[in-house]
Amino acid sequence: MYAPVRTANARAALRELPLQDHSAYTFIDVGSGKGWMLFVAAEYPFRKVLKVEYSTELQAVAEANLRSYRHRSQRCKDVASIHANAAEFDFPEENLVLYMFNPFGPEVMSRMLANLERSLERSPRHVIVVMLWPENAELVEEMAEMKVFQKTRRHHIYQTQTA
Ligand SMILES: C[S@@+](CC[C@H](N)C(=O)[O-])C[C@H]1O[C@@H](n2cnc3c(N)ncnc32)[C@H](O)[C@@H]1O
Repeated sequence: MYAPVRTANARAALRELPLQDHSAYTFIDVGSGKGWMLFVAAEYPFRKVLKVEYSTELQAVAEANLRSYRHRSQRCKDVASIHANAAEFDFPEENLVLYMFNPFGPEVMSRMLANLERSLERSPRHVIVVMLWPENAELVEEMAEMKVFQKTRRHHIYQTQTA
């Protein structure tokens, strides 16, 4: 299912991130649809902003949007779009902000989190998980490395303890 996020809700979550220096983090919108969230994230000075989308059709729209996007409020210039299945995605070994707005069911989520766990074993680092209108949040909470930072009605934020 594709449903874009309400920008105000996404901004409210991004304002709360437990980090000091955006430039030390790569932001990834996992299950990114047409990519609107990329532009919201790029208003912050992240090191890099990525999106991962599985649907060929939505990916094509996102890439066209990305080519034409220019905005005065853009502070991250390194913005890229990746066509991939989140269940098979290899996370960059960098500090990460993983953002999800209910992109998929528990099966894909479990496979993606198992990949993330392996990546954290290889390379312990600060990873922040932001879930908007969270479903399947219990799968994140089951991860030994992830601790709750904040829960509101609209979003949950988790982080690893390696800051
Ligand atoms: C609810 S939309 C979220 C859109 C965007 N993240 C936002 O906040 O506006 C969920 C998106 O996840 C994508 N998706 C579903 N399964 C996926 C998978 N296995 N890998 C990557 N993307 C997936 C869908 O195609 C859809 O575009």
